Amino acid sequence: MSRNSIDSLLLETRRFAPPPEFAANAIADADLYERAAQDRVQFWADTARELLHWHDPFTQTLDWSNPPFAKWFADGTLNVAYNCLDRHVLAGHGDRVAFHWEGENGDTRTLTYAELTAEVKKAANLLAALGIHQGDRVAIYLPMIPEAVISMLAVARLGAVHSVVFGGFSSESLRSRIDDAQAKLVITADGGWRKGKVFPLKDAVDGALANGTSTIEHVLVVKRGNNDVEWTEGRDLWWHDEIVTMDAEHTAHAFEAENPLFILYTSGTTGKPKGILHTSGGYLTQVAFTHKNVFDLHPETDIFWCTADVGWVTGHSYVVYGPLANGATQVIYEGTPDTPHAGRWWELIEKYGVTIFYTAPTAIRSFMKIGRQVPNQFDLSSLRLLGSVGEPINPEAWIWYRDVIGGGHTPIVDTWWQTETGAIMISALPGLTTLKPGSAQVPIPGIKIDILGDDGTRVDPPRGGLLVVSEPWPSMLRGIWGDPDRFRETYWSKFSDLPESSSSGASATAPGQIRYFAGDGAHVDTDGDIWLLGRVDDVMNVSGHRLSTTEIESALVSHPIVAEAAVVGAADEASGQAVVAFVIIKSNQQHAQTADEASALLRDHVVGQIGAIARPKRVFIVAELPKTRSGKIMRRLLQDVAEGREIGDTTTLADSTVMQIISDKLR
Ligand code: WT7
Repeated sequence: MSRNSIDSLLLETRRFAPPPEFAANAIADADLYERAAQDRVQFWADTARELLHWHDPFTQTLDWSNPPFAKWFADGTLNVAYNCLDRHVLAGHGDRVAFHWEGENGDTRTLTYAELTAEVKKAANLLAALGIHQGDRVAIYLPMIPEAVISMLAVARLGAVHSVVFGGFSSESLRSRIDDAQAKLVITADGGWRKGKVFPLKDAVDGALANGTSTIEHVLVVKRGNNDVEWTEGRDLWWHDEIVTMDAEHTAHAFEAENPLFILYTSGTTGKPKGILHTSGGYLTQVAFTHKNVFDLHPETDIFWCTADVGWVTGHSYVVYGPLANGATQVIYEGTPDTPHAGRWWELIEKYGVTIFYTAPTAIRSFMKIGRQVPNQFDLSSLRLLGSVGEPINPEAWIWYRDVIGGGHTPIVDTWWQTETGAIMISALPGLTTLKPGSAQVPIPGIKIDILGDDGTRVDPPRGGLLVVSEPWPSMLRGIWGDPDRFRETYWSKFSDLPESSSSGASATAPGQIRYFAGDGAHVDTDGDIWLLGRVDDVMNVSGHRLSTTEIESALVSHPIVAEAAVVGAADEASGQAVVAFVIIKSNQQHAQTADEASALLRDHVVGQIGAIARPKRVFIVAELPKTRSGKIMRRLLQDVAEGREIGDTTTLADSTVMQIISDKLR
């Protein structure tokens, strides 16, 4: 599991009540929990009406007649981009800054709501001119530059569907995502800035389209890196050449609440990433609600900064849709935290007067390692609230974050959610909740979470079990793109009594019960607070990003020298977990290179297949892998080796000497 051993968590008794002044001015009041408890569905209907502009108001709130396929606000219509842009301008907030963008190389750009709206309208006109209509898929493969946000909103404005692919993913990963979604258009850049250098993106797009069978009709290229690019006439277009000819007026049409908004790929337990599908009305309702209440947003005065890239769901929900739906002012930064110096993030907080800061435990731990002398050089006194997301935050990192970054007084919200949940599900509300370092604490109002034993019954606190969501929620995934069976199987088969699966008797559940299985283990204490313990499946969490062991194994065995491979996530100081691979080289290849050479070669190969985030920290070349008599690789034992622990129970191994051989070799 994770760095939070349950024993160390239970010894954590520090408590932090909301500062009185914070509580007095807080956006959320306790009434939210009461209203939601009285009538959950009505609560979400009221919230959707309060926070969004509906073109045609809805009369139905939740349709759960065909589980696990939910519909929220189904007879209502809205335009997501209009909700994020035009309505703020029409309400007189056109001069409010939407975001201050800072490039890694020092370039800056500030866009007000009026300016951002005009840019999105031009981009929507451009996409329409390129033949993008409602329902078409557009791949976005960009650095963290204003055009990334503008592109997403332009796609949404047309009722089309974006699939943002993180710029750190390889050409191969981009190709498989384009193919799976059958995208018509890719929006990319020549390159972007990262760690003081320009990294190419257009090159990777060319690679992804090289076999000529792609559904892509055009490649729209933003000039950012000024690096050289190859050009395919007729297919490739410069963004700046096209956008200048476009009208800055564009009327936003309303689409049904269930119109698809985006697909975002995430790793699962098999080799093929899942295209998680989100739709419009319910998604926007819950991201706006959580952004407002969890981050206590005062849109007139706050400066919000979420450090996530828009290539991840955190960037979708808390850089683009939540903050813009709420009319917030943000900071967006292109590069890495340590370029050109170790205090870059703190410098930006000082420069823009950031009041709310949202980042990941892995970043906090890396700052802890450098030491407090770096942040101490900057004035961070504007900060009044901190957030954490992506993995469990260990209490020591929590305390450091609060003391060193938060001046010893800011509340910290530890927010648990997933690509699939679309928006925050478990979190403190900072003006109401007494905080416990290391615990994400309670479901937000309107969300029903349970911790179950393997038999499907709720555990008796204090106790650990499996985390499920017991009622449908507005921003829930609506499916896996093109794969309804996998959707059912992955999330709903374990603890649900679905119409078709009830006769199989395979699931552990009461009749009629339908529960979403998140794949996380969690402990619930006697106050009902939830402590997340990490994934219970073959999914790793490396620096807050999900990676599948199987996906990396497939990448490894795709190399001609590899006979077999097994991958585990090993506990790691900096990144939470690190990728560790065990590889058997084909016998006719064993003398072609040394083990060190093979290991270096294979680490690079994984980067080429998936991307730098998946680069194994170590690749061990071994002669055998531990397998059960039925041939299943026992990753648990490999994890023991990788983490330097005594090796666990080997009695089910087909050959019990294998582990001895492996561990002797690695010692
Ligand atoms: C997985 C989802 C949600 C945005 C970032 C990751 C882990 C996420 C927390 C937290 C403990 C967390 C879970 C979850 N996770 N937030 N606050 N405490 N664990 O999105 O890539 O879809 O990963 O991240 O294991 O299942 P994702």
